[in-house]
Amino acid sequence: MGAFADDLRAGLRARPRAVPPKWFYDASGSLLFERICELPEYYPTRTELALLDRHAAEMAECIGPGAEIVEFGAGASRKIRKLLSALHQPAGFTPVDISGEHLVAAAERLRAEHPALAVRPVAGDYTIDGLQLPPPVGRRVGFYPGSSIGNFEPSEAVEVLARYRHWLQGGGLLMGVDLVKSPALLHAAYNDAQGVTAAFNLNLLARANRELRAGFQLDGWEHAAHYQPSLQRIEMHLVSRRAQQIWLGGERFAFDEGDSIHTENSYKYSVAGFQALARRAGWAPQAVWIDDARHFSLHWLTPGGGVSAATAISSHR
Ligand code: AVI
Repeated sequence: MGAFADDLRAGLRARPRAVPPKWFYDASGSLLFERICELPEYYPTRTELALLDRHAAEMAECIGPGAEIVEFGAGASRKIRKLLSALHQPAGFTPVDISGEHLVAAAERLRAEHPALAVRPVAGDYTIDGLQLPPPVGRRVGFYPGSSIGNFEPSEAVEVLARYRHWLQGGGLLMGVDLVKSPALLHAAYNDAQGVTAAFNLNLLARANRELRAGFQLDGWEHAAHYQPSLQRIEMHLVSRRAQQIWLGGERFAFDEGDSIHTENSYKYSVAGFQALARRAGWAPQAVWIDDARHFSLHWLTPGGGVSAATAISSHR
């Protein structure tokens, strides 16, 4: 039945039930996520965009001329636009995303704006081994905005960052990391008043209905998101409103009222906490840019094991 069905079945058999968040992002889920990024409560996108506006020239200085930017999890391309316009003669742009349809449309728009740039979208899962990137057209540099790293368990995040280091073949990595902050702000960001985050979460079940004929009754499920301070993470769940059952690939799954499917973690880091994680993956932290309210950070990492003089942090505000 395919990888989604396998993950869903395994996740519903497990206790606690949990489904990997990468399955949120079909075409509808990607559009819902774009709407989340526009919400007044969802501070990460606008804060990261403002950091790019303010510091793109310094970031371009770190990246250097003639780079091929490989963007992991390329979305609506507002962020890469800001970076590309500050870069010195970028050689190429390779957006990698799990949602192919979304990626091609965004790449076409960028091509029209930068006719000299080699734009080569790659539809694939950049969170696992085996991704094939096209041959480099310049010095590869990674761009991983949005703090998607927070959607992995820290041990998995180390593996992901180590994999990027391998794929980037000696190039640096510019990445966004959401910071630990007041639980009230976090709660609002994941429980927005318009219910877009709830629709994004429920789209997982709608997708299972569309693609796998799972037969989830959407009105039987409720979005829940809360901050776990001891783990420094937001947890998102889908909670069953009543006793119910579904069938998937001939297998019956039963739920009692209050049973939950854990759909996402969104870890928040301190600057030092994230840098320690990056070092475990063989990266040497260099510059870090943080907004005045200290909500979000952008990190420039270069390959290099262990702690060296180069790990001294320059904090630009
Ligand atoms: C993609 N990722 C960084 C988002 C986050 O904030 O963890 C996904 C998201 N989930 C709910 N709102 C946004």
